[in-house]
Amino acid sequence: MTAEGAFVGRRVVLVVSGGIAAYKAVELCRRMVDAGAHVVPVMTEDASRFIGEVTLSALASEPVQTSLWTEASPIPHTRLGQDADLIVVAPATARIIAAYTAGSSDGLATATLLATRAPVLVCPAMHTEMWEHPAVQDNLAVLRRRGVHIVDPAEGRLAGGDVGAGRLAEPEVIVAAAEKLLTPQDLSGRRVLITAGGTSEAIDPVRVITNRSTGAQGYALAADAVARGAEVIVVTTVATPVPPGVSEVVCATTADDIHREVGALASGCDVVVMAAAVADFRPVDVAGHKMKKRDGIPTITLEPTVDVLAEVAATSAPHQVVVGFAAETDNVVDNARAKLESKGCDIMVANDVAGTDTGFGGQTNAVTILSRTGADCEVPLGTKRAIARAVLDAVVALLPPR
Ligand code: CTP
Repeated sequence: MTAEGAFVGRRVVLVVSGGIAAYKAVELCRRMVDAGAHVVPVMTEDASRFIGEVTLSALASEPVQTSLWTEASPIPHTRLGQDADLIVVAPATARIIAAYTAGSSDGLATATLLATRAPVLVCPAMHTEMWEHPAVQDNLAVLRRRGVHIVDPAEGRLAGGDVGAGRLAEPEVIVAAAEKLLTPQDLSGRRVLITAGGTSEAIDPVRVITNRSTGAQGYALAADAVARGAEVIVVTTVATPVPPGVSEVVCATTADDIHREVGALASGCDVVVMAAAVADFRPVDVAGHKMKKRDGIPTITLEPTVDVLAEVAATSAPHQVVVGFAAETDNVVDNARAKLESKGCDIMVANDVAGTDTGFGGQTNAVTILSRTGADCEVPLGTKRAIARAVLDAVVALLPPR
C-alpha cells in the first residue's frame, strides 16, 4: 500500500546527536521514510560514536551529513534548514540543547537549527540527574518560549543500568508529535470523544457475549484527531495501548459501561464518534457460578441495552457533531441511511463488515460516509487511518466556525 498522510513528500531533517539513544533514531528514520517523508539525516561527530553513518544513510532518503565542510557548496547549513518542512532532533543531548539555546552554531547540526524557519521538534535523552538539572530545564523553558516543540523523555532503563526519567521517547511517540507539526490543525481547540472496541456481556463468570470488533478503527480515528490538534478522550474496551497524544483513556467492558461513561463525557465534547460495537442485548440474569453441562442446555433470556448513540444524538447541542458507525453485512448503504435517520446523528459511516479487507480486525477498511447535510462520500479501500481522515474531514465540514 502506498504511503499516505501528512509525511508524504515532506522534507524532514533528522538531527542525531551523541547519546546512547541514537540507535532509536534509526527506527524513527525508518518510520518517517515509510510514511512517505524525505528524511535528510544529519549526525553530530559524537553521534558517530554510537551508531554507524552507514546505518542511517541506508535507511534515510539520502546519505548522512556530518560536517559543514564536506560538500562542494560552502553553505549546506542554510540549504538544509531553508528547505526543511520540519527538523527533528532525536536524541537531543544536554549539549546540543545548550548550543541551540545559546544560538551557537558550532557544527552542521546546530547551524541547521539556527538557519531554519521550519518547526523544530526536540526530543531530549540523558541521565536523570542531567535531565533534572536546572541548566537543562531552563534551556528547555527558553526553547519552548521561542516556539520550539519538545517531546519529553520517558521514565525507564537508562545506559549503565540506572532507571529514571531521561529515556528518549519511543519512536511512535516522536512520529506522532512530528506528524502533528505537519498536519493542518483543523480540530485545534475541540474536544473529541471516541469509543472503540466491542463490548462483552457476562453470561456467567466464564462466558460472555461479545463481537469481533478490535478497536482498530476507533484507535485510527483517535490518532488522526490527535494529529489534527484535538483534545481526544477514548472510551475503550480493548487492552491495546491508545495512540500517543490521547489526553484521557476510560476503560469500559459492557454496554452499560459505555452508556455511563459516554453519558458523563458527551456534553463536554464538540464531537462524539461512536466507533465501538455496542451490544444490543444482554442476559437478563448473570449466573453467579459457571453453568455446568450436567445441568442441560441453558436458556439465556436477553434484554435490550440502551442505544447510546441515539441517546447522545437526542440530547446533543446544535454545535456538537455526533457520528455513528453502521456495521452491516448486506444492503449496507440503505441500512446505514435508515440508521442515520432513526438514531438522529449527524454522520453515519456505512461499514461493510462482511468483506474480506473491510470491517473488524485487519489494517484496512472501505466505507460510505452519509451526512445529515451534503452528498454521500464513498471512501475506497485504504488503511483504517485513511478512513479516519475522511470521517474527520466530514466532521470538520459540519463543525461551526470558531
Ligand atoms: N450503538 C449504541 N448503542 C447500542 C448499539 C449501538 O450506541 N446499544 C451505536 C454503535 O456504536 C454504532 C451505531 O450505534 O455507532 C450503529 O451500531 P450497529 O450495531 O451497526 O447498529 P444497531 O443499532 O445495533 O442496529 P442493528 O444491530 O439492528 O444493525
